[in-house]
Formats: sequence, structure tokens, C-alpha cells
Amino acid sequence: MSDRQALADGLTVARDRTLRLVDFDDAELLRQYDPLMSPLVWDLAHIGQQEELWLLRGGDPATPGMLPPAIEDLYDAFVHSRASRVALPLLSAADAHKYLRTVRAKALDTLDALPDERADSPLLGGPDPAFAFGLVISHENQHDETMLQALNLRSGAPLLGGGGHLPPGRPGVAGTSVLVPGGPFVLGVDAADEPYSLDNERSAHVVDLPGFRIGRVPVTNAEWQAFIDDGGYRRPELWSARGWDHRCQAALVAPQFWLPEGTRARFGHVEAIPGDEPVQHVTFFEAEAYAEWAGARLPTEIEWEKAAAWDPEAGARRRYPWGSAPPSGEVANLGGGALRPAPVGAYPGGASAYGAEQLLGDVWEWTTSPLRPWPGFTPMIYERYSQPFFDGDYRVLRGGSWAVGADVLRPSFRNWDHPIRRQIFSGVRLAWDL
Ligand code: AVJ
Ligand code: FE
Repeated sequence: MSDRQALADGLTVARDRTLRLVDFDDAELLRQYDPLMSPLVWDLAHIGQQEELWLLRGGDPATPGMLPPAIEDLYDAFVHSRASRVALPLLSAADAHKYLRTVRAKALDTLDALPDERADSPLLGGPDPAFAFGLVISHENQHDETMLQALNLRSGAPLLGGGGHLPPGRPGVAGTSVLVPGGPFVLGVDAADEPYSLDNERSAHVVDLPGFRIGRVPVTNAEWQAFIDDGGYRRPELWSARGWDHRCQAALVAPQFWLPEGTRARFGHVEAIPGDEPVQHVTFFEAEAYAEWAGARLPTEIEWEKAAAWDPEAGARRRYPWGSAPPSGEVANLGGGALRPAPVGAYPGGASAYGAEQLLGDVWEWTTSPLRPWPGFTPMIYERYSQPFFDGDYRVLRGGSWAVGADVLRPSFRNWDHPIRRQIFSGVRLAWDL
């Protein structure tokens, strides 16, 4: 198994990250920071429960597990809403840690025992046991981002520092765009190229798109301030009917966490809003209104993926926007350490073939696309990861925020959320018809 070491490393990187996000006392871990989020101790035990299910129990909940069934049930995200989890008889932090350690030790033994040849099976995570490891690594990293969303909503003196160092931006890139000429490209990926791609990213298929322009970088805080100053939140004609209803009902007047006099709260720190940083914490509806005000529109997720992954010279996809090198701090802001997006223009070396920058990392970018399966969709071993959400009221977000694990992100990765959500690290990239 050539991936054995990479998978072991992926598990370790994710776990180190998780442990840093729960390195607080029991009372802290049991707190509910916001009804939209679980107490941190729920995410912690849920990470272990999913790892046990997919790696040690073949994904079959009927097989005996380490937790009594009544306890295990507390960590079923489909049974208990986030708002209700704080009132459940959850495992203590000490018991959750012990459970995670026991599961992890057995998972690493299972990884050591994997056959050398990876099975080539269309049944994702079925006969190919390596796939389930990739799934579990992705799952833990996704919950790490969820825990960061929770910590950002926490009131009180900051628990986390201000975040790591980021490269400076470049003047002159905000508000500019790049051309993506019309023509066919390959949307989605196959297991042969991306063995750990999730079910909703597959399979690769040709899509022909008309030409369009797309923002070179995401919309900045300074640009958003101009929208506010021009009455953007007071002009219903800029908003969709649903968007305006929501804007009124939720009394939206600025991105979440913005405070008076050009300041904002970030992980409990109050600081000046950096004008050249991508705007964060806006709903899909706000993104739509901003685009209308700017004489633009939001991209579809298919346009986004073409701008990020297609290399028209080569007539082929790139593994990453910048090429085949794995993500590093030279080309993208990922991994959660920064605790904020990088200023626009910070990563010229991360540009796609069409010249768009900061596609991976920094902020999740709203698209107009509802979450739908690609043709021939086949659910993976975790059948309820994508499928239950295909017919819901979700919009796809692309690109990944600063909080996404670097080794679990691809240009084909699809995230989704309700159009009214904004505690997520969501931002905006504009698009234009030719
Ligand atoms: C893909 C981020 C929408 O958090 O609801 C975590 C990821 N799925 N555990 C979510 C997920 C199951 C999912 N998103
Ligand atoms: Fe989960």
C-alpha cells in the first residue's frame, strides 16, 4: 500500500489539530456557544464514533461497537439537531479523549494490516479499504473547521491567539477579473486520478460552457464597505425576494461579526477590519445582492471548477489550480493556523491557468448552484454524506476556507449550506457574462 504512510500522516495531522481545538477545561467543552453549533465535546466524541464506524466496523452500525448503543446514538447527527446536543447526556471530555485514543490505536493497526495492493472497485469504500481512511481524515478535518466556527461565536475573553503569519497582499488586484473562454472542459474527477475524492465529486465528465469572466480574487472588506455605504442593505431592488425577506427578518446590516467604527470581532479579538482581506461571514443572499450592486453575478459551481482546474493549453485538468505540487503556505492559506483569510493578491504563485488567484483557501465562495449529483452518482460507503442533501435548499460553496485541512482539499471538493448561513467562513467571488 503506497499510501500507507500518507494516510497515517493524514490521521495524525487531523488529530493534532483536533486536540488543539479542545485543549480547554470540561466546563468550556460542554458550553454551547450558539444554537447553530454543537458543544465542542460533541464534535470530539463524534469524530471518534465515525472513525470507529468506518475503520473498525466496516460502516455497519449493527456490528458491536465500543460505546453502548444508547450513548453512540447521541452522536448521530441525523437524530439530534445541533441546538439540542448541549442537553444530551454526552460523554465527559475525559471519556471522549479515552475513546478517541482507543479507536485511533486500533485504526492504525488496521492501516498496518491493509493489503499492499489497493483494490480497484467502483464501490467506494467497499472492497477498497484504503478509501475509508481518506474519508475519515476528511471527516475529522471538516469537524475541525466546524469547531473553529463554534469558537469564533464564543463570547468572553479570547481562548485562541490572533493566528499565524500571512504573506502581504498586492495592490491593484481587488475588483479585477480574468477571462475564461467558452468551450468544453472536464468537470469532476475519477477514482483513478483522485482515489480519496468523495462521492459527490465523481465522475469526470465533459461539460461545454459559454465564456465568462470571473474575479481574479474574492471580494474584499473594503469593497463590501462601499456596498454598505451605497445603501446595499436598504435597497430591495438589489436583493432576490427571498433574500430581502431574510435580510428584513434577520435585520442584516453588515457581515456577521462586524462592529461599529470599522472594527470586527474574530475569535474574541476586537480589531480593525482589514480592507484588503476577503469579506467573510456573509449569507448567499447577501452575496447575491452584492453581485447585483456590482453589476455582476455569482458564478455557478461548474464555472468555478473550470476556472480553478482546467488547463486549456494542456487540454487537461490540473490537480491544483497552480499545477501538481501539493498545497503549501507559498500558494494557499489553508490548515486553520491563520485564523483569518490572507489579503487579496497574497498568492500570485497559486494562480490557475486562467490567472484566477486564491481559489483554494481563504474563504468558501458561494455559487448559484444547488447541491445536485453529477451524472451517474454512486454513493460511497458513507451513504448519507451527500445523498440526503441533494434535494434540499442548499447552495454549493467552493474553494475551501483558511480553516480547511490542506491535505483534504481539491478543486473538485464541494461544500454546501443553507443560503441563510454565515457563521461559516463564507465569502464571494464575482462572475460576468461576456
Ligand atoms: C460537507 C460541511 C456540509 O458539516 O454538515 C461532517 C460535512 N458531514 N459530518 C457538514 C460533514 C458529516 C458537512 N458539510
Ligand atoms: Fe460528522
